[in-house]
Amino acid sequence: MSLDLILPDSLVKAFKTARHVTVFTGAGVSAESGVPTFRDAHTGLWARFEPTALATSEAFEADPALVWGWYEWRRSRVMRAAPNPAHEAIVRLARHVPAISVVTQNVDDLHERAGSRSVAHLHGRLMQPRCFACGTPWRYPDGMPNEPEDGRRVTPPECPECAGPIRPGVVWFGEPLPADEWQRALGAAAGCDLFITVGTSAMVYPAAELPRIAAGQGARVLQINPQATALDSLADWNLVGAAGVVLPALIGAVFDDASPTTG
Ligand code: OAD
Repeated sequence: MSLDLILPDSLVKAFKTARHVTVFTGAGVSAESGVPTFRDAHTGLWARFEPTALATSEAFEADPALVWGWYEWRRSRVMRAAPNPAHEAIVRLARHVPAISVVTQNVDDLHERAGSRSVAHLHGRLMQPRCFACGTPWRYPDGMPNEPEDGRRVTPPECPECAGPIRPGVVWFGEPLPADEWQRALGAAAGCDLFITVGTSAMVYPAAELPRIAAGQGARVLQINPQATALDSLADWNLVGAAGVVLPALIGAVFDDASPTTG
């Protein structure tokens, strides 16, 4: 799909003069890869599933096979998905600016598979589970998992160290963010001069503080989202549309770097 963007001069200048760009992504950046978001009406995961029954340590203790099965269903969908033009445009952006930080709330690995490096994953990683009891990392066997139907129970593997159940490598409600990744995200927000927020409703804290921290330190804020969000009034510019369309068109227009998808 192609898009002719009319960009304000101020936005083009912000890109061309930026010394450090931080890109902050949410579920919307992976939506066009077929990975569901959380809060979109009808299609969002939290419209169909109850977070407290699936995304808390209490839920895992109460019914480990229900929770593990649900995350196996999500992992299988991610493994069958491919990065989309939004993930790819972020990789191209990195070639045009002196420094870039990518901070995501997503537990998928689509930024990495597109080619982004050193991505801070504030809410953990689906592909890196660990023992619920002793924390030892656990490696999935190679190969594509079977696709369990959503709602099907799958008994979690046993930890080879302590025989405890293996849990998904994600941050559940009520759990702290991984400290090192949060510190990197704070540094990226406070140290950038252009902060781009893509495909997040910005409703989950502390991640949603990052755009505000960036703005408070003097960064300009660009938002890319097809819907209104909590950040509309904070952002200096709002580009309304799907990330997989807007981001490639934006990078193409600002840096004269057209991807095959921007026609
Ligand atoms: P949400 O589901 O809350 O928000 C997704 C956002 O993506 C919405 O603002 C949509 O309008 C937007 N969107 C949808 N399609 C898009 C597209 N093609 N291009 C761009 N934007 C699009 O997801 P997050 O903000 O990522 O946490 O949610 C934050 C956290 O809440 C998640 O990391 C997860 C969830 O509970 C945990 O699991 C800890």
